[in-house]
Amino acid sequence: MEFNTLKVKQVRRLTDKAVAVSFEIPKELKKTYAFKAGQYATVEHQHQGEVIRRSYSICAAPSEGELVMGVKEIHQGKFSVYANRELSAGDVLMVSTPEGRFTFENNRWRSKNILCIAAGSGITPIMSIAKEALSNHNSNTVYLLYGNQSEADEMFAEELDQLVAAYPERLKLFRTYSRAASDKGAFGRIDNALCLHTLKNAFGQPKLDLAYLCGPEGMIETLKESLQKYGMPEDKILYELFYSEKEEVSSSLEGQVLIDVLIDGVTHSINAAADKLVLDSLLENDLDAPYSCQGGVCSSCICKVKKGAVEMVKNQILTDSEIAQGLTLACQAKITEAPLSIDFDDV
Ligand code: FES
Repeated sequence: MEFNTLKVKQVRRLTDKAVAVSFEIPKELKKTYAFKAGQYATVEHQHQGEVIRRSYSICAAPSEGELVMGVKEIHQGKFSVYANRELSAGDVLMVSTPEGRFTFENNRWRSKNILCIAAGSGITPIMSIAKEALSNHNSNTVYLLYGNQSEADEMFAEELDQLVAAYPERLKLFRTYSRAASDKGAFGRIDNALCLHTLKNAFGQPKLDLAYLCGPEGMIETLKESLQKYGMPEDKILYELFYSEKEEVSSSLEGQVLIDVLIDGVTHSINAAADKLVLDSLLENDLDAPYSCQGGVCSSCICKVKKGAVEMVKNQILTDSEIAQGLTLACQAKITEAPLSIDFDDV
């Protein structure tokens, strides 16, 4: 992951609590900032003397040629409050190169029926995926189920209406609101019943090739089951979680352990508390390990265990076969066998 200073081109208000931030990308960095539909970029920001990183999904499609991210203001959010209330065109931000595996690639999925389900700001990567799927292949159909608390909370409402008008046959949009009823959609949260009801009654029971889910963990777990019952194979259901809280860390090891870590071709050796998460120890030792969400969500911190062993507190990203190959998420890894040797280059 590489960070560069980028100038903010525009901050466009989407709702009272969300903005779309676009960046000017200098010519020499155009290739570096090329992205796939569904990826995110990470912003590094100074907040009250502390350097923090936050990742935000890109809402533009690659074919639009612009880097735009959606930022929803969350209560006491260390970057999102600043972005929503103070950031403006001409300001500069440290922004990482795009990353993420929740992606849509047109060359692999021609003429497909694609289901997208988004809750709240989960619409951000889905916007990119839907626009890409619709614009580059004239036989892809997108079925989008989009849930919000109320109409006022709906990000990209106008842009979605314009997309439906542009692709009336190939974009089927169904909205639902969980707190304030609206004649624009149903009333209720996205759950198993609403998902299956929408597929049947609003979308005409299509045969689906791919599904993209973005929202809170509970919704994702429920929908994965619903869609498998609907007949979709598990590996065709892709998902991205919102930030997930850290869980308790416990380790059978005690005291200090030795960690060797290879980053950008250089090996560093540190002593770390055995009961700490590996990424936390690396950052405390000022090592430039890649990371973003620190919550086991974004996949930036994937590394390979070469010696010793770790266990992940939480893993929604790596498959069993990737774990068997030694891959782990440094932000979720607790050491179970020391000394530990990890490699961020061989992933
Ligand atoms: S930093 Fe995001 S998964 Fe580890």
